[in-house]
Amino acid sequence: MRIWAPGRVNLIGEHTDYTGGIVVPMAVQLGIEADLTPTPGVLSLRSDADDTPVELTLPAPDLDRVAGWGRFIAAAARDHGADATTGWTGSLRSTIPVGAGLSSSAALSVAATLMFAPDDSVAGGNRSDPVATARAAQRVEQAATGVPCGIMDQLASSVGRAGSALRIDCNTLHVDPVPVPDDVAVVVVHSGQPRRLTDSAYAQRRAACEEAARRIGPLRDATTADLDSITDPLLRRRARHVVDENVRADAFVDALSGGDAREAGRLMTASHVSLRDDYEVSTEVLDALVERLCASDGVFGARLTGAGFGGCVVALCRPGHDPTPAGHRSWTVVASDGATRTG
Ligand code: GLA
Repeated sequence: MRIWAPGRVNLIGEHTDYTGGIVVPMAVQLGIEADLTPTPGVLSLRSDADDTPVELTLPAPDLDRVAGWGRFIAAAARDHGADATTGWTGSLRSTIPVGAGLSSSAALSVAATLMFAPDDSVAGGNRSDPVATARAAQRVEQAATGVPCGIMDQLASSVGRAGSALRIDCNTLHVDPVPVPDDVAVVVVHSGQPRRLTDSAYAQRRAACEEAARRIGPLRDATTADLDSITDPLLRRRARHVVDENVRADAFVDALSGGDAREAGRLMTASHVSLRDDYEVSTEVLDALVERLCASDGVFGARLTGAGFGGCVVALCRPGHDPTPAGHRSWTVVASDGATRTG
């Protein structure tokens, strides 16, 4: 069996998925490929991204007894109730930089989910119900990491469409492809700062949104007047980011669809400012990189991508223009098809 699960970059709609908001990610050409041979009762997997192999027997043990990336595999096996009639020996190869904000862990969650999904649920190689795959992969990632992540990353990896970003309504999980015009390029630049604090701060931000929703109702439906009624200034700013970001995400879809790269880029940069000032998930290093990229001719806009606190910045550029500052790693990414399972 062969599995492919892509990473993703989020163009706009950051820290809104877990409030039922609008996000606009795209699956990218970087991903995880797994080649597997059936070995009932045994999981024996190697990865070029990690020196420690996964050696487990099925049914998979309790997650407390599994370390490292084996936790994703064990979580998927347990999620599907895999018994000793299943099992795989093989290798995984990854082209996604780890800890950069391109969702290497979501790709691993999707790949692990596809290892154990029953044939009928991945008919057409994951074409029949990629949303169900994403839901299972979200459960797997939450179990493996303990982080209450939203569904954006797994959904982008599972549902991806070549040539299109995806407007995802995280309330309904309805996905609309948004073609990426030929006259823009998406460049992901690593800040050089490893992500830190992500897990604890992520859970705190999510809790703040839940608290705000208890006071004013679902943030997806909240108005500016509702925001004004939140007396705690910090909570008000957190909620304001989410409410404004939903408006920006839809305006971005309109701009991209209408071929207005300048407006799309402006909205991305505005998203960064909101993540910096209202949601406070940026860092000085990310802010400086965004500023530097935006000052470059040929960049329409830039913002941190993913959970924040380090990692990557995504820039919308004129094709052929490489804005990468000296000493930084970068990737020109293209919108790609979602995860598949064949053989
Ligand atoms: C991480 C999570 C996603 C999403 C982003 C922030 O990538 O896994 O669900 O919440 O952060 O937009």
